[in-house]
Amino acid sequence: MLHNKVAIITGAAAGIGEATALLFAERRAKVVVLDRDAAGAAQSVQRISAAGGEALACAADMRDHASLAAAVAAAIARFGRIDALINNAGIYPRKPFLEVTEAEWDQMHDINLKGLFRITQLALPHMLAAGGGKIVNISSVTFFLGPPLMSHYVASKGGVVGLTRALAKEFGERNIHVNCITPGAIQTESEKHFVSAEQERDFLNGQCLKRRLQPIDVARVCAFLAGPESDGMTGQTLNVDAGWVLY
Ligand SMILES: NC(=O)c1ccc[n+]([C@@H]2O[C@H](COP(=O)([O-])OP(=O)(O)OC[C@H]3O[C@@H](n4cnc5c(N)ncnc54)[C@H](O)[C@@H]3O)[C@@H](O)[C@H]2O)c1
Repeated sequence: MLHNKVAIITGAAAGIGEATALLFAERRAKVVVLDRDAAGAAQSVQRISAAGGEALACAADMRDHASLAAAVAAAIARFGRIDALINNAGIYPRKPFLEVTEAEWDQMHDINLKGLFRITQLALPHMLAAGGGKIVNISSVTFFLGPPLMSHYVASKGGVVGLTRALAKEFGERNIHVNCITPGAIQTESEKHFVSAEQERDFLNGQCLKRRLQPIDVARVCAFLAGPESDGMTGQTLNVDAGWVLY
């Protein structure tokens, strides 16, 4: 159902973003792999090409408007339009609230929230000109749980939920769908750095489903929200968390 759709996926050199890029390409979308990790982005594109898919690597930093503008321009030059934007790039370092410096607070928001603002402002006019589009924002279940050591992260991801709703209202009448996913604990390479064996057990105890979620679990919901099966939805926040938070 993503056949011939053009999708920009941020943070697609690794983890959830990479799995999403591979899945979209498998479903015949044309994928723009955007990441600050140029080598990683090129690797994702190689994997897509090897599987017979079509993709473009764009080295860009969510903190750098000029590099994001160049990536959107390259996407338009190569594929002619943008149908979907998956706002996935993000960082999640842990730190006690009282030790978070202003520079660390600013960096978190610059990447996780303002970066999303920057790329969305650049891509949205192309969707509007084409008569519609789908934006999928990746927030976090920590927005609901508010775990310790993640105050600056949780604040940035709360902003993502709020921005999702505001954009859904502002652009709904112009056929722009904006939805949000709040992943639970997803077993990516980055996540492994932060998670102890004890936390692994806590996740499984807290979840209804007793398995560790993988990037593909989130990628599949991204595909649903970027494709026509979600045409009746906008402004929503979907938990992909194995039933950790029930509300
Ligand atoms: N893994 C989890 O458990 C989990 C849970 C909830 C939410 N999330 C969110 O999902 C998203 C992806 O998480 P992940 O675990 O796959 O992370 P990851 O670290 O595996 O991948 C993130 C990718 O984003 C890129 N990136 C980081 N900063 C960037 C920047 N400034 N500019 C461009 N690219 C940048 C990295 O290079 C990397 O390729 C993040 O927004 C994260 O907050 C993850």
